[in-house]
Amino acid sequence: MASISATSVLLFLTFSASLSAALSASVIEDLRNLKTPHDFNSTITKNCHHNPSLRYCSSLPMDLDEIFKSTIVASHLCNESKNPNCIESFPKIDLQNRPMITPLYLSFNFFWKYCPLSILTIDLSNSSLDSNFPIDVLQCTQIQALDMSHNDLYGDVPIESFSPLTNLTSLNLSYNHFSESKISDALFFKRFNSSSFLHSGLLPDKKKFRIKAVILLVGFPIFVILMVCCLGWLCFRRPDFLPRMLRRKHRFTPAMLKAATKGFSKRNLKGKSEAVDIYKGTLRDGTDVRIEIYRGENHPNLIEECKVLVQLCHKNLVSILGWCNNRRLRAIVTKWMEGESLEMWLLESNNTPWNQRLKILMGVVEGMCYLQEEWPEVGYDLRTSSIFLSNNLEPRISRFKIGDQSCRSRKMYKFGVLLLEMLVNRRPQEDFETGEAGFLEYIRMHYPENLQKVMDKKLATQDTFDQAKQAIGLGLMCTDIPSNQQLGLGQVFDIISRAYQSCKVLASHNRERLHAERGKGHKSIQSRRTFEFIEPPKSNS
Ligand SMILES: *[C@@H]1O[C@H](CO)[C@@H](O)[C@H](O)[C@H]1NC(C)=O
Ligand SMILES: *[C@@H]1O[C@H](CO)[C@@H](O)[C@H](O)[C@H]1NC(C)=O
Ligand SMILES: *[C@@H]1O[C@H](CO)[C@@H](O)[C@H](O)[C@H]1NC(C)=O
Ligand SMILES: *[C@@H]1O[C@H](CO)[C@@H](O)[C@H](O)[C@H]1NC(C)=O
Ligand SMILES: *[C@@H]1O[C@H](CO)[C@@H](O)[C@H](O)[C@H]1NC(C)=O
Ligand SMILES: *[C@@H]1O[C@H](CO)[C@@H](O)[C@H](O)[C@H]1NC(C)=O
Repeated sequence: MASISATSVLLFLTFSASLSAALSASVIEDLRNLKTPHDFNSTITKNCHHNPSLRYCSSLPMDLDEIFKSTIVASHLCNESKNPNCIESFPKIDLQNRPMITPLYLSFNFFWKYCPLSILTIDLSNSSLDSNFPIDVLQCTQIQALDMSHNDLYGDVPIESFSPLTNLTSLNLSYNHFSESKISDALFFKRFNSSSFLHSGLLPDKKKFRIKAVILLVGFPIFVILMVCCLGWLCFRRPDFLPRMLRRKHRFTPAMLKAATKGFSKRNLKGKSEAVDIYKGTLRDGTDVRIEIYRGENHPNLIEECKVLVQLCHKNLVSILGWCNNRRLRAIVTKWMEGESLEMWLLESNNTPWNQRLKILMGVVEGMCYLQEEWPEVGYDLRTSSIFLSNNLEPRISRFKIGDQSCRSRKMYKFGVLLLEMLVNRRPQEDFETGEAGFLEYIRMHYPENLQKVMDKKLATQDTFDQAKQAIGLGLMCTDIPSNQQLGLGQVFDIISRAYQSCKVLASHNRERLHAERGKGHKSIQSRRTFEFIEPPKSNS
């Protein structure tokens, strides 16, 4: 056979020439009709003698049928790959864009086992391969280029199987679905540049990586900045949105007060004077508060005072919640007192019984005692208009002043005036030209003979007259600073509480009496007089 050239490395093709008739049929058919020529053994033995590097030469024992089969496949594949002259050369396998036949050729593992040495390029790209990496291909260790891009290959790439392919310079595994390979395979990835693995799944996705990097490098700082801004905004504008532990106690910001008063709306404005606006507001936690906003430069020590006042804690003192100290806004925030002031209660309520008045006085003295003992530097404005009554008629002193130097006797004097006001039910400031002095003068004038004239009509009844009369005596004593006969707060409290107790006893006796009268109609019990103290001095004016 002329075509069997001993020098030709492309041994297989020499057979394909002799089998040209069969090749017109499909490769499968050719394989089925395979009939190994009887002199095939001697042919390849000759070839091996000539070129021992041929693959089948080293395979022992030689499987002649298999070797022959591979020559048939080779001749078909060479033609499929449009190699110009398959009889002379078979330099490349080109099956790109051939999804119908590529899997078939890949399945001929005997072909790959004897992969012709002439093949330098294998192109299997875009052939819809959806399997693991076709590892048989790597038996063509002499190849210089391998393209498997644009397939659906998955699983691991057998990276270690690439090491015998020392002449492979161009590899393309792009656009597949391989599993991401480990860092330990770094050498492999250095050998080929990254454009060999675009979207192959092998390398960590650049895009994903970039997104992560962007998130880390840009997003994170932005997140931190936002958090800091947000926290700053909260701290400096709306600390009431912070958890309680992070808030600075008693500190209110203008934004908080604005929110509490619905933007300082007219509806919430409850009072206005030259220097102070008074708003009612509701804090975020639902507490109703009174917000006193100070305008101008007066009251320079406002905040220092507040820092002391927030520490006051007694049931008979209005609790100061905090303050706002800002260039634009200076304000004090106190609890909003539902209910009315003592002044309103006395003037407008029809139900102001003597025992209630006593109870209120007791509360006032308790508050005063607390301040005297714990906070002697705190002064207060003891007027019926600045004492608030809670819903159960517990009095609360408001309007405090720090550094009040007025002595105890002055405070006692103020209490005396308050006491008298509650008995006489006339207002010293409004009803008398000379104010308190006139008010006291007026009472002293009628004491003790004509008290009926000055006493609140509601108290001038049989049951309470005596006690009320003695209470007026107590009030006059308290207001009498020069006589040096003032009592201590403790004594005053004792006197008032005793009167209150006897009032209660009296009330229950009266109930019994009513009951008894209904039953038998005899005994009446005299009210007991427990309201005893030193006779008040005569007016010394
Ligand atoms: C091929 O021929 C050699 C001798 O040339 C012989 O040793 C070998 O067994 C033969 N192989 C087969 C598969 O017939
Ligand atoms: C090679 O393929 C072409 C079609 O591309 C076909 O016409 C021809 O017969 C084939 N030759 C052989 C030897 O199979
Ligand atoms: C892949 O092959 C199809 C035809 O089978 C073709 O339409 C497509 O353009 C090819 N894609 C690439 C990237 O070569
Ligand atoms: C690579 O090419 C050289 C020279 O062409 C050759 O000697 C060597 O055998 C080839 N390597 C492999 C693994 O085929
Ligand atoms: C990768 O190799 C190709 C040629 O194979 C070249 O065109 C490209 O510039 C190389 N890219 C890099 C990043 O080295
Ligand atoms: C691999 O194939 C892709 C898509 O066809 C191409 O963009 C890339 O440049 C190729 N890489 C190499 C190394 O040829």
